[in-house]
Amino acid sequence: MTVDGKITTRRFSPIDFTSREDKQHLFQQRSLADAVLIGHRTLQKDNVRLGLPGEAMSAERLARGQSEYPLRVIVSNAGRIDGDLNIFRTGISPIVIFSTTRMPPRFRKSLREKATLHLSDTPSVDLAWMLRQLRVDYNVKRVACEGGATLFRSLLEAGCVDQLNLTIAPYLFGGKNAPTLSGLAQEFLPSGIRCSLTGMRTAGSECFLTYRVRPCARPKS
Ligand SMILES: NC(=O)c1ccc[n+]([C@@H]2O[C@H](COP(=O)([O-])OP(=O)(O)OC[C@H]3O[C@@H](n4cnc5c(N)ncnc54)[C@H](OP(=O)(O)O)[C@@H]3O)[C@@H](O)[C@H]2O)c1
Repeated sequence: MTVDGKITTRRFSPIDFTSREDKQHLFQQRSLADAVLIGHRTLQKDNVRLGLPGEAMSAERLARGQSEYPLRVIVSNAGRIDGDLNIFRTGISPIVIFSTTRMPPRFRKSLREKATLHLSDTPSVDLAWMLRQLRVDYNVKRVACEGGATLFRSLLEAGCVDQLNLTIAPYLFGGKNAPTLSGLAQEFLPSGIRCSLTGMRTAGSECFLTYRVRPCARPKS
């Protein structure tokens, strides 16, 4: 995020405001996870594949007993996910979509050919339930959420975040219509969430922070 806490512009345009070092840091976090999680809007806007660069990180994963690439997980309530997005054009790892029965039939039909669908009969995806399913069905123990802000806020509210990796980039964007880390919602979080700083390093003009997030209500099993 920027120094004034913005994660993108008010138009949510794909912008690149961090360094190669930060990208590498992101890939490193991604490579440690069993599954990488992304909100539908970030997937639409950034059109990412959620892969890993080169072969070294995949080799390290295999040496740790993980799959070559993390499982790729998309969250959407409405389920209108474009099957032509880049993520569906690479078969590096299975794709799992958590959505609801609001997903229209034509999207179900086309997405079933490219991903495994978990559709719940609820207005929105219960994120704690989703994490349990990932654990039970896919043996996922560590999830890296790559945003965006709406999904991150929902995870925070559900007590499902235990670590925050935050890079402060040397920019100020300003503007009340550009989302911050916890989104655009006007409301305060239901209660303040305390973070403990567990790591800090600088590289160039960027600062890489790691926080332990508390309290973390574990999903019931
Ligand atoms: N600077 C950074 O590090 C960073 C990181 C990530 C993203 N971004 C930026 O953030 C922007 C997108 O953020 P965003 O907050 O608008 O969107 P987002 O969190 O990526 O996605 C929001 C969408 O995800 C689905 N979703 C969210 N919470 C859900 C829940 N609890 N259950 C089920 N589905 C849920 C919904 O999809 P449906 O609408 O399909 O129902 C919702 O509209 C993009 O511009 C992206 O570039 C920046």
